[in-house]
Amino acid sequence: MILRNIIYYFFLYKTCLAVIRENFKECEQSSFCRRLRNLKPDQSRYILDLNNLQVSDNFLEAELLNKDENITFKFVLTALAGNIFRIYADEISPIHGRYRVQGVLDGEPQVERIKILKQDKNEVIVQSGDNKAILKSEHFQIEFYKSENLVAVVNSRGLFHIEHLRMKNTLEIKEGEDQKEEDSGAWEENFKSFHDSKPRGPEGVGMDITFPGAMRVYGLPQHADRLALRSTGPGGIGPYRFYNSDVFEYILDSTMALYGAVPVVYAHSTSNTVGAFWLNSAETWVDINNSKDQNMVSSLVNLVSGQSTENKVDVHFMSESGVVDFFILMGPSPKDCVQQYTSLTGVAPLPQYFTLGYHQSRWNYVTEDDVTAVVKNFDNYDLPLDTMWLDIEYTDGKKYFVWEPLKFGHPDQMLKNLTATGRHLVVIIDPHVKRESGYFLHEDALANDYYVKTKDGNVYEGTCWPGPSSYPDFFNPKVFNYYKNLYSQLYFENVKSDIMIWNDMNEPSVFNGPEITMPKDCLHYGGWEHRHLHNLYGFVYTAITYEGLLMRNPNKRPFILSRSHFAGSQRYAAIWTGDNDAKWEHMAASYPMCLSEALSGISFCGADIGGYFNNPDVELLQRWYQSAIWLPFFRAHAHIDARRREPFLFEKDVRNRFKNALVTRYAHLPLWYTQFYEHERFGEPVIRPLFYAYPKEIGVIDIDNQLLLGDSVLAHMISEPGQSTANVYLPGGPSTYWYDLRTFKKYNGNGFTSVSVDLDSIPVFYKGGHIIPRKDRSRRASTLTHRDPFTLYVALDSNKSAKGTLFIDDNESFDYRKKKYLYIQFEFNTDILKSSLIDDTDYDTLEWIEKIVILGAPVDVKRAVINSKSLRSVELEAYYDDSVLNIRKPGVSVREPFTIKLI
Ligand code: GLC
Repeated sequence: MILRNIIYYFFLYKTCLAVIRENFKECEQSSFCRRLRNLKPDQSRYILDLNNLQVSDNFLEAELLNKDENITFKFVLTALAGNIFRIYADEISPIHGRYRVQGVLDGEPQVERIKILKQDKNEVIVQSGDNKAILKSEHFQIEFYKSENLVAVVNSRGLFHIEHLRMKNTLEIKEGEDQKEEDSGAWEENFKSFHDSKPRGPEGVGMDITFPGAMRVYGLPQHADRLALRSTGPGGIGPYRFYNSDVFEYILDSTMALYGAVPVVYAHSTSNTVGAFWLNSAETWVDINNSKDQNMVSSLVNLVSGQSTENKVDVHFMSESGVVDFFILMGPSPKDCVQQYTSLTGVAPLPQYFTLGYHQSRWNYVTEDDVTAVVKNFDNYDLPLDTMWLDIEYTDGKKYFVWEPLKFGHPDQMLKNLTATGRHLVVIIDPHVKRESGYFLHEDALANDYYVKTKDGNVYEGTCWPGPSSYPDFFNPKVFNYYKNLYSQLYFENVKSDIMIWNDMNEPSVFNGPEITMPKDCLHYGGWEHRHLHNLYGFVYTAITYEGLLMRNPNKRPFILSRSHFAGSQRYAAIWTGDNDAKWEHMAASYPMCLSEALSGISFCGADIGGYFNNPDVELLQRWYQSAIWLPFFRAHAHIDARRREPFLFEKDVRNRFKNALVTRYAHLPLWYTQFYEHERFGEPVIRPLFYAYPKEIGVIDIDNQLLLGDSVLAHMISEPGQSTANVYLPGGPSTYWYDLRTFKKYNGNGFTSVSVDLDSIPVFYKGGHIIPRKDRSRRASTLTHRDPFTLYVALDSNKSAKGTLFIDDNESFDYRKKKYLYIQFEFNTDILKSSLIDDTDYDTLEWIEKIVILGAPVDVKRAVINSKSLRSVELEAYYDDSVLNIRKPGVSVREPFTIKLI
């Protein structure tokens, strides 16, 4: 057994220098993708029967006829609150019901009223607010209008299709082809016995949507690609694939599937943004066709002749099974679209404050003493650190929930040592279960029939870290309940306090399975095949962990890191970009990859700092820390073969650069925390691409080496060695001010601007008009800063004003949902800084304001006077450092509204 284990490690994780592309399918090798992709465009096979339309307050229902096959389907269009339309299509009286995704929407969406403006047999016009949908019978098309502008056309290219057992065309194609469907024995069997039993499949679904006027489309994480999605074919890079997979050392600039799947796109132009969300958990491929890529020659001609052709983007979703459940997010701005999307799939609950600090991980810290020593070294060198991570070697022979008895025999003591210095612990729990007799989890799963089955009804057995493993069927409510209980004290005996959880390998990863996962014909609860719900396996797993951690401690906000994810995962877990490589290009990919996730609801994203595989050189590692402090999830992690690279191991200069990066991150934690609170409250992403905040600016549509934290900070990644200047794009126009964080020098938002760089930091700017709350006292861990005072950085705009917010609570519990928090607004106008509480709430805090730093400050200020209820009126010292004005020690509690007047 041990030998087998070693062999798998060896083959999978030690000998591979890069992903084996052939392990994963191309569209051509996925027969449904080939069928749906090969449909001839502009020959819609469907007619919407508007003669028998049923109309209610919020939706309309009609029959959809496949005229070639004479099969009718059910079609429903619903208007949802917040400017969203939902399109649903399914079989009528199916032999087998189609799989409908469960648990992904954050509750049933609220509906909106509709009004029928026109109705005849050819066309129906539906209005909802300032949105309109025109349904056309003949070719089954739906045009969507925002304030009378056409923004999207569903089935514009006539590629809508629902495969059906009775379709002779599909069956003809299928017979020959599906012999190749590697793991799809069931299909072949089904096909052979089609006439005498009740087979399932083929059941592919496809839908196309055209966005007239769109210049770019974004979204569709998780792919190691640029932020702006590329045209995929024909003959090109191939469609973007969603089939959650364990891909190590993944290739960049690729449409290959990775660990997560969020099938939402945003089509954007400088005048409009509109989104589409394809709710389907089966293997899915998405073709993109941006007319700019087809019309290179004609656009050049037009450019020269001064004419403009309107651009458009076609998007084609193709899934192996399921119903058609499609949401149109009517915008009209990027912000509206993302808010519409999060109104459907939810937001991330406010994380604990410490989770925004620095996380130190590697595969593996090998003993309890090792963990303690690493922390001690951080302390010795005054390097901030909040959380230590334990990878799989802390378990007893990869038996999750059981500690390795010799190396980790006193987990409670180890944890005490950590918490004594304000630190936390995250341990890994993977879904595969070691098939070892006597292991409680395996015994329970066998005894209670908890495992996923093969198509023949036997327990499915695959191979993962422990060697022979089986996989609990988390879709079974009994398994869900059983497993979540494992997180309670019972199985982490003696370790009662905070342990947070890392869920990995949950695609699920099966080393010897087809495409390194479970065969598609494995069976789940309710008789569903794995093919129907593959992309949901990791999502459900994290939902269990979330509930489990809540049971363990109902008033502590759970922290979970998950590799696999789906739409809606933000409600349970943070994610990371998986097994990247210690290369400059992989570091560069971390910004677009996390920005794409953030647009798609999942803000809490990061990448393994330093690169998971291999060893980064010192310059790369420095740059990696410097850029990673501006991503929400901030963790260093490395492969078992990688050399140790904790920041304290380096010589002084280098160590100081790491320290500066860490200290800068920690200084901004109040801002991060406030942004996460605002994400939960308003559904906006925590980090944002430039086009999100400057939708009218054409120069930003392809920028993905920069990001915005909220709307106040802009970071520019340095992604090449030896760079001494950077071409930073500063948006907003000449009247927008940007202050360089290193020098506080003021720049205007004039687009590309050359700034000098050295090894000490990357270019970062505060936007004029914003007030940034910071805690500038450097401590060993964020937990030790909770009583520390704030410094407010007031970056003035061209009107000499600025605004900002600050959220404060106990940093860990759910009491903020019981009005125990402060949500503070700061405003600077005409030489007066004013604070006020936004909500009628209270939280008893000792935090106070230590200093005000004003960038772009008025000249000749001599002093300042603070007024508040408890201080009355007190004169404050004001002094300049170059052009920066500092106000010393206002000394007022953040709880108390105040004004400070410059004199
Ligand atoms: C997977 C994870 C990686 C982890 C390893 C061992 O490859 O992506 O982060 O270190 O498994 O658990």
